[in-house]
Amino acid sequence: MSIVRAGILGATGYTAVELLKILLRHPLVEVVLATSRQDHGKPLSEVHPLLAGRTSLQLENFEAAAATKACDVVFSCLPHAASATSVQPLVDAGIHVIDFSADYRLNDVATYETWYGGEHPDPTRVGQVPYGLPELFADEITNAKLVANPGCFPTSAILPLAPLLLHEQIQPQGIIVDAKTGVTGAGRTPKQATLFPECNESIAAYAVGTHRHGPEIRQILSRRTGVDTDLIFIPHLVPMDRGILSTIYARPMRGVSAEQVMECWREFYEGQPFIRVVDHLPATKFTSDTNYCDLAARDVEGTLVLIASIDNLGKGASGAAVQNLNQVMGWDATLGF
Ligand SMILES: NC(=O)c1ccc[n+]([C@@H]2O[C@H](COP(=O)([O-])OP(=O)(O)OC[C@H]3O[C@@H](n4cnc5c(N)ncnc54)[C@H](OP(=O)(O)O)[C@@H]3O)[C@@H](O)[C@H]2O)c1
Repeated sequence: MSIVRAGILGATGYTAVELLKILLRHPLVEVVLATSRQDHGKPLSEVHPLLAGRTSLQLENFEAAAATKACDVVFSCLPHAASATSVQPLVDAGIHVIDFSADYRLNDVATYETWYGGEHPDPTRVGQVPYGLPELFADEITNAKLVANPGCFPTSAILPLAPLLLHEQIQPQGIIVDAKTGVTGAGRTPKQATLFPECNESIAAYAVGTHRHGPEIRQILSRRTGVDTDLIFIPHLVPMDRGILSTIYARPMRGVSAEQVMECWREFYEGQPFIRVVDHLPATKFTSDTNYCDLAARDVEGTLVLIASIDNLGKGASGAAVQNLNQVMGWDATLGF
């Protein structure tokens, strides 16, 4: 197998450094390009000191023609809108792109423009791009030129819920996703809400009823299972660096028990290396710095309580992106991990 040349756009951010940690040890990938608007010209290891001694790459300005020539695959770690604008010429030129932003995740342009505002830079591709959860969309991802890497919260909700909706284990009405994230979920670009004194020693709900991952969870569940839900999703910011814990409340169908839910997951995800159905209660510490999604269920007074833990920068972003690359190329899912 020949080595694949990889580029990273927005290489100064948090998802990018996690991606680099994995790609620099991936046996079939060489990282040949890392871009930045503000830090071009600097060594990558100056911006991410934990990469000292692991790479001699210099950050460069993004230039589509040069990226197309230099790379076989590009990972875009840019914010929404900037991402679609940048990757559109790369996809047109036929190289593989894995997009971390929300630009290609949703089913339709109208929902995108309602929740993200502004016109979509590449509207004709919206709804045509595989959603990057290989456990659920493997056939579409294999050989794909463009993959929409999932949102971090959606990964922690869709992985537990999709098999249960498909196999009629839970009712589609009244599902509540109560999710907590570490502060890296907001990215490295400074914002007041994520300054240390603002979020340390405090837990707060935010974007209640208005978070953009709500429509993504509902649309992707519907796309994969054919079942429409009225699911509500409430995120919380907790003072830790990384990790997402989602506690999901759902009503069982026909008295389905937590043990039956766990059995459904075990059968559905059999052979999937990154899904662990665990007997203990999942915690972010047990999935930190990994590409695992840990799942457990409990019965509480007639309600099913489903608990999912991931690392927002692992299975919630950069781990998923490398898993998607492996799926696109037809390689073993665990290469690089
Ligand atoms: N953080 C997470 O847990 C997570 C999880 C899943 C998905 N995502 C998605 O992954 C993407 C990257 O997230 P992140 O957390 O790595 O963000 P980040 O730490 O803020 O990094 C994003 C990088 O993109 C560049 N950038 C910012 N605005 C730009 C613009 N308008 N045009 C071009 N470049 C711009 C910046 O680099 P320069 O200023 O150096 O150019 C910045 O370092 C986002 O789309 C995010 O929604 C993040």
